[in-house]
Amino acid sequence: MNNHLTPALAADYLDWLIKERRAIRRFLTDPVPDDIIQQCLELAVLAPNSCNLQPWEFIVVKSPEMLEKLHSVCLNQRAAKAPLIIVLLAKPGAWKKACPAIIQQWPEPVVPDVIRTFYARTAPFQYDQGTWGVKGALKRLLTCVVGWRRPVMRSPSSHAEMNVWAVKSCALAAENLMLAFQSRQYGTCPMEGFDERRLRRLLKYDSTDIPIMLLAVGKPGEKAVYGPRFRFDSEECVRWL
Ligand SMILES: Cc1cc2nc3c(=O)[nH]c(=O)nc-3n(C[C@H](O)[C@H](O)[C@H](O)COP(=O)(O)O)c2cc1C
Repeated sequence: MNNHLTPALAADYLDWLIKERRAIRRFLTDPVPDDIIQQCLELAVLAPNSCNLQPWEFIVVKSPEMLEKLHSVCLNQRAAKAPLIIVLLAKPGAWKKACPAIIQQWPEPVVPDVIRTFYARTAPFQYDQGTWGVKGALKRLLTCVVGWRRPVMRSPSSHAEMNVWAVKSCALAAENLMLAFQSRQYGTCPMEGFDERRLRRLLKYDSTDIPIMLLAVGKPGEKAVYGPRFRFDSEECVRWL
């Protein structure tokens, strides 16, 4: 922790940051400096993520021509008229490259056996669903039998569950990214209102990648926030046992 930040100050600051973030739908045209974008992306990837396989990619769109095209892909919505849009892709197939890469790039002189075994054997077994999901179906059968007697991890055991797997981690990175921009006085708006097919045609990513949201970023303009903040009471979504 920074030595000028006491735990109490850090808590106050985080509370403030979370409460201060709102969906911003009107942006000034001022560009977002590259060093700010870079810092925020580096904070985004510090998000917790499944088995540290980091199943995400960020496409940074700054060029006016590309932004114009994205505005149309985003159904010409107000929030998409921003000086910066970051496309967040969840990558269900990321484990294939990440498993050997983690062993190769391990940040200690010797890769511990437990790490090597995990990324060479356990993780590929867990995440490889095989062609047409055949391996996943076999795993489901296996977990049904073994799970009869003891708790077992039952998913992901299909390609659909791999999509959920990747989206979970990517969404956590998205929140980090929004708070990182917020802490630097830039507003953001996460957007899922876009034409997925046109987006893929424009940005040419793999068909298995999932664009979980487009994040508009910039300095908030006049009347940037549309309405008061509203959330249901916590009793409606929290159970204490
Ligand atoms: C996954 C996701 C998709 C969203 N899509 C859009 C969108 O397409 N356009 C938009 O203006 N806001 C969008 N929002 C913003 C939400 O409407 C907004 O976060 C919500 O109303 C709560 O307001 P607050 O963020 O100001 O607290 C989206 C938010 C999320 C998390």
